[in-house]
Amino acid sequence: MTYNIAIDGPAGAGKSTIARRVAKELSFIYVDTGAMYRAIALFLLRSQTEAREEKVAEVLPEIRVSIRYRDGEQQVLLNGENVSGLIRTEEVGNMASRAAALPCVREKLLDLQRELARTHDVVMDGRDIGTRVLPHAQLKIYLTASADTRALRRFRELEQKGQDCDIEKIKKDIIWRDEQDMNRAVAPLVQAKDAVYLDTSDMTIDEVTEKIKSLCR
Ligand code: DC
Repeated sequence: MTYNIAIDGPAGAGKSTIARRVAKELSFIYVDTGAMYRAIALFLLRSQTEAREEKVAEVLPEIRVSIRYRDGEQQVLLNGENVSGLIRTEEVGNMASRAAALPCVREKLLDLQRELARTHDVVMDGRDIGTRVLPHAQLKIYLTASADTRALRRFRELEQKGQDCDIEKIKKDIIWRDEQDMNRAVAPLVQAKDAVYLDTSDMTIDEVTEKIKSLCR
């Protein structure tokens, strides 16, 4: 049987940084499900498809999302093209949030996510991993931080990548995305009953990593 760690939480809570670290230290694979939604969002933006169920359902059969690992890093492929470097923009993130509210999109990614967890020890992060994708995960974490902290982290991340950004706009985007992700009808972001709540506003990456590893032990 595989060991599965589910990490859910709002945008910018540090999920990917923490999940990647924990996975590395435990020799698990890290599965970034947000990247899968982002790949679909990129397709929708490129094809100028409206984020409405009937429009998206029409083009979904043309979309193939897969992942592969290179030097331990997850790459996400959209119809065979490695789009990992193209999906980290606010535009794609906002479209991903819209697309992720559509049942047909969630359904499409569910099997891929479950299959990865069935065949590998994983740290998987997203919004509905503990509640829907892996309800039987051995360890579930709900990772969060204040909106100010999350906006600042996102700002620094984008700045490091040399992207032009404005912290007030980032904070507005984060709050808008939280609203969308928490209030949608299908698989909204909520803390699973059996998830451990971790507010990382005043914790370092090392502290959070150690905490999760000790919970795992
Ligand atoms: O974690 P992220 O910012 O890369 O995610 C992009 C969007 O995808 C986010 O706004 C919500 C959605 N998402 C989701 O609904 N379910 C997941 N398991 C992962 C992401």
